[in-house]
Amino acid sequence: MYRSEFYVFDQNKPVPVCIRNYTKNDFKELIKIQSECFPPPFPSELWWNEEQLTNHVTLFPEGALCIEVNGELAGSLTGLCAQFDPQHLDHTWEEITDNGYIGNHNPNGNTLYIVDISVRPKYRKLGLGKLMMQAMYHVVIHKGLVRLLGGGRMPGYHKVAETMSPEEYLDAVVKGETRDPVISFLLRCGRVPIGLVKDYLDDEESHNYAALMEWKNPFIK
Ligand SMILES: CC(C)(COP(=O)(O)OP(=O)(O)OC[C@H]1O[C@@H](n2cnc3c(N)ncnc32)[C@H](O)[C@@H]1OP(=O)(O)O)[C@@H](O)C(=O)NCCC(=O)NCCS
Repeated sequence: MYRSEFYVFDQNKPVPVCIRNYTKNDFKELIKIQSECFPPPFPSELWWNEEQLTNHVTLFPEGALCIEVNGELAGSLTGLCAQFDPQHLDHTWEEITDNGYIGNHNPNGNTLYIVDISVRPKYRKLGLGKLMMQAMYHVVIHKGLVRLLGGGRMPGYHKVAETMSPEEYLDAVVKGETRDPVISFLLRCGRVPIGLVKDYLDDEESHNYAALMEWKNPFIK
């Protein structure tokens, strides 16, 4: 099981944080965080429910991470294991995460697949999301998996969709010509785009597109 305690800096002030596995006692707060992180037009049916969270902590507890700041829950990162073939990129969030229930978690899979990341708005830009991602890289290495993978929403895309294709938009984000709230964050976490997926998630802002973003285990060829 994972537990790591250290400090982050809020401007110049060290603040104690803890990254650990979440448990049943955290469910209420985790659902509240989801409602703060995915406000309308994002469909509220896609927020966590207790049954999904129960599955996360039962089927793959190592992939259920959260971060506390000064003892208050500030965010979570959830994954499952899947067998992934880089020759076949197309999938939907629903398929690969069993609609967030992770009933398809494959303990023998080669890939740690990210189901969700969310950090409470008041705790953003402190490095917490990146630190949880790094904690999940530790899990990938610890379990000897080939990669961490996930579909990154592109919520900035709707602003330019009339003039740019999703490929051009992703390219512009990677070149640093424009910034996207999720894709730029994932790039800064060390994730690399390996393709675009259409109809990934019911997500108006991204026009239902997602960029598949990979981090490869550096110890595995
Ligand atoms: C995406 C999210 C998890 C980022 O969390 P966070 O804790 O604020 O991110 P961090 O502070 O760890 O940021 C890490 C890096 O990404 C950058 N970053 C964070 N948010 C960013 C944004 N909106 N736009 C551009 N860059 C961003 C930071 O500047 C930082 O860069 P650095 O490492 O060079 O200093 C958070 O904004 C969130 O919960 N969003 C809503 C939920 C969501 O869309 N999740 C993704 C689903 S696919």
